[in-house]
Amino acid sequence: MNSINIFNQDCMQMLKDLPKNSIDLVVTDPPYIVKTEGGGAGAFGYQNRKWHQEIEFMTNGFSNNVLDELCQVMKKINIYIFCSQYQLTQLINYFENKKCNWNLISWHKDNPVPSCNNKYLSDTEYIFFAREKGVKLGGTYYTKRKYYVTHINTKEKHQYKHPTVKPVSIIDNLIINSSKEQDVILDPFMGSGSTGESALKLDRKFIGIEIKPEYYQIACSRLKKFDRQI
Ligand SMILES: C[S@@+](CC[C@H](N)C(=O)[O-])C[C@H]1O[C@@H](n2cnc3c(N)ncnc32)[C@H](O)[C@@H]1O
Repeated sequence: MNSINIFNQDCMQMLKDLPKNSIDLVVTDPPYIVKTEGGGAGAFGYQNRKWHQEIEFMTNGFSNNVLDELCQVMKKINIYIFCSQYQLTQLINYFENKKCNWNLISWHKDNPVPSCNNKYLSDTEYIFFAREKGVKLGGTYYTKRKYYVTHINTKEKHQYKHPTVKPVSIIDNLIINSSKEQDVILDPFMGSGSTGESALKLDRKFIGIEIKPEYYQIACSRLKKFDRQI
């Protein structure tokens, strides 16, 4: 297979076409369930209607059907999922039923949007990690921490014109810990291609799927430095 295979499609259809047992690691950032009622809507707030609509599109969560499809294509369950606190019950129940080991990694932002509506700040996102028994965790003392603290990554959001871009510096560690060179990394909710950038930089192969043509094009531009065929 090529180093990069990216598709502008609905992952629910595309995943059915991927060969079973072909993926070494999934690192993905599906639509989050976030509760914005009465509070901030992330770094962009409500300043801009387009961003607001985009954030709404990305806050419907995802169903266990996606997880079923992902379990079919992975060689062994080995998956990182960015999520909010509202998806933790779903994920823990799903992967405990599959008899997986799991960990919770957290990403804290030290400059969150102020909130004064009887709620805690929106300063934390989670990365849920599940692996089947027998799947090894590599990496080093420095790559295996379970918490990250950064500023809100406004610069990357503007650079890649996507409201929920994730930091490549965090994804690098996940990929280093849970895969080796030439392994196949899949992101079925690719967005602007942050997982792809990390995977390709680290000499892994990458499969990405994104439903929205504009984000697919952004990922193409972002990843083409790794492959002249894009
Ligand atoms: C949270 S964002 C991912 C952002 C990405 N991690 C980045 O750094 O740019 C989720 C992405 O999934 C896409 N998406 C939503 N439903 C999808 C589906 N059924 N198939 C493929 N992509 C989908 C959205 O368009 C959005 O770009």
